[in-house]
Amino acid sequence: MKSILSVSILSAALLMNGCDYKPRNQGKALFEKECQSCHMEKGQGLGKLFPPVANADYVVNNKTQLACLIRNGIEGQLTVNGQEYTGEMEGNLQLTEIEISNLVHYILVDLNNQKDAYQISEIKAQLELCKK
Ligand code: HEC
Repeated sequence: MKSILSVSILSAALLMNGCDYKPRNQGKALFEKECQSCHMEKGQGLGKLFPPVANADYVVNNKTQLACLIRNGIEGQLTVNGQEYTGEMEGNLQLTEIEISNLVHYILVDLNNQKDAYQISEIKAQLELCKK
């Protein structure tokens, strides 16, 4: 009886967890918490200060770099949709690989209409390349 009970508690917990796990929801929440103060709530950017991350050619052309960019930040000159930026973005060393993966998913799929994002294993491999 005890084991049946624990099996059902375990499967209920797994089911709940399964329903809760929506990459784009966590990605959106993380974006609101960590990114929108600069990149704005729909990722549209802010004038010449902060580049857009929604409908942004830079994002689509640098898909495999996004995970590292989020983790380590970026500085120096870059061009997004024809506009030059010479700002500096700090890294986010506090984010886990799963959180970065969900953020990349949200940015690619929801903000840039890409059909699919990366598996967590691919994000891990990308992050391996820019480990400090
Ligand atoms: C304090 C302001 C600030 C915050 C917070 C911030 N960024 Fe940035 N971000 C910038 C600036 C400034 C640049 C341009 C850097 C440069 O000119 O080299 C940039 C560049 C980028 C780029 C590449 C250019 C583009 O727009 O496509 C991406 C992608 C990006 N940020 C994503 C994020 C994500 C995801 C987060 C949250 C985890 C985030 N940023 C948080 C300021 C910020």
